[in-house]
Amino acid sequence: MSYISMNLVTMFYLIASVCFIQALKGLSSPATARTGNAFGMSGMAIATITTVALIFKLQAQAASTGGLGFGLVLLGVVVGGGIGAFAAKKVEMTKMPELVAAMHSLIGLAAVCIAVAVVAEPWVFQITTQGVALPFGNRLELFIGTFVGAVTFSGSVIAFGKLSGKYKFRLFQGAPVSFAGQHMLNLGIAIAIIALGLVFCFAPGVEPAWTPFIIMAALAFVLGVLIIIPIGGADMPVVVSMLNSYSGWAAAGIGFSLNNSMLIIAGSLVGSSGAILSYIMCKAMNRSFFNVILGGFGGDAAAAGGGAAQEQRPVKSGSADDAAFIMSNAETVIIVPGYGLAVARAQHSLKELVEKLTHKGVIVKYAIHPVAGRMPGHMNVLLAEAEVPYDQVFEMEDINGEFGQTDVVLVLGANDVVNPAAKDPKSPIAGMPILEAYKAKSIIVNKRSMASGYAGLDNDLFYQANTMMVFGDAKKVIEAMVKAVD
Ligand code: TAP
Repeated sequence: MSYISMNLVTMFYLIASVCFIQALKGLSSPATARTGNAFGMSGMAIATITTVALIFKLQAQAASTGGLGFGLVLLGVVVGGGIGAFAAKKVEMTKMPELVAAMHSLIGLAAVCIAVAVVAEPWVFQITTQGVALPFGNRLELFIGTFVGAVTFSGSVIAFGKLSGKYKFRLFQGAPVSFAGQHMLNLGIAIAIIALGLVFCFAPGVEPAWTPFIIMAALAFVLGVLIIIPIGGADMPVVVSMLNSYSGWAAAGIGFSLNNSMLIIAGSLVGSSGAILSYIMCKAMNRSFFNVILGGFGGDAAAAGGGAAQEQRPVKSGSADDAAFIMSNAETVIIVPGYGLAVARAQHSLKELVEKLTHKGVIVKYAIHPVAGRMPGHMNVLLAEAEVPYDQVFEMEDINGEFGQTDVVLVLGANDVVNPAAKDPKSPIAGMPILEAYKAKSIIVNKRSMASGYAGLDNDLFYQANTMMVFGDAKKVIEAMVKAVD
């Protein structure tokens, strides 16, 4: 029986890598995102099948020493793939960040497990022959891979708990957990991890230095928890993207140990794209990365979609019928979707409303803020789900100049992204770019109450003389508007 040659393995890994790069390119725009996803799935299928073929070959070669558990690998693929497919099918759009956090935790754990296996039996992975000590370079890679993998695992588990908000366990609550000397403790643990790692790397003899290795891994698990608990639940999307980056670097580190080009390339792509994404998110919120990590605005209350009630100031409010009447008589309407629209799952009704208004001759556009919602591209995905035509959807920099000449702006479940407080240098969101809805001739805002958004701030837009609040759940309000436009 002939097995796959190493040249073929390299070639298929290269094809899979090209697919992954195409996937990232495709995912950079809503119009090409589906193609990007198809590339990603194809790349992963090619990489998985090639790896399984490679394991098959290695098992045959190692048959005399008892084999590599090919059946177990297949079981892993079936069970893991099944759980992944089920979870992805079931997950709601607003729960996507917690699914991603759960998946990252598994990548971190996988990196640790692989590192332990390599340290225990490096000859099985063809890194050394039996009876020969692991070279220094491999030990260093394994130490870094284990450290990053362990921090990613425990950090992602905490991030998952905080994002889901379903568990009573204190560390899984959105509210930050902080105590005196926390940063010093983290620093002390980090130094201890490095010291133990060096002991592991420089240990003499053929037998691996298990004691420093195991203590180092245990401390890394603890450090992952300690780093994430002081961060408020609402800042978790940035943290998840940072952990995404870590998980990529952990995989790349292990790829070097295993001499596996696929892991190195895929890990580096995940690592760098996660880092870039964290940077973009921080920039769009006008916050430094350290500000997020050390906890700034965005307390826990806002994470659930509604902050504390604000001071009592008079606001003008109206009904869905009033709003429908105003929009029907406008020439131009800009719709600003936000987190509340996603919570209410009102995107399909919104599309219906826009179709009716357009039918009446009103020019309607959607304005998308880069961090509206709770994950990158959240609003684009939401509107794409309702099959809103892409040519009606405009990014912030392309539409901001139009608000001043627009008759009506309809703000749906958005708050911070239209808060003029960002123009005030003393505000906690000073400098955050906003959609300039306050410049429109009339503004209609739909939300359930006067509660604040993610940043926990009051919003002057709601009190402007030309603003009308329409209180209620976005889905019910939009459905009422659809009826009223008839
Ligand atoms: P937010 O400022 O969070 O405001 C959402 C508003 O939706 C709330 O004020 C809430 O008011 C309302 N709402 C909630 N459920 C609703 C429902 N069922 N029907 C109608 N309204 C509802 O949202 P935004 O304007 O989209 O801004 C996003 C914020 O998240 C920004 O501060 C951003 O920096 C932050 N953030 C974003 C990301 C990414 S990547 N997108 C990541 C981390 C943080 P009521 O409770 O009164 O209804």
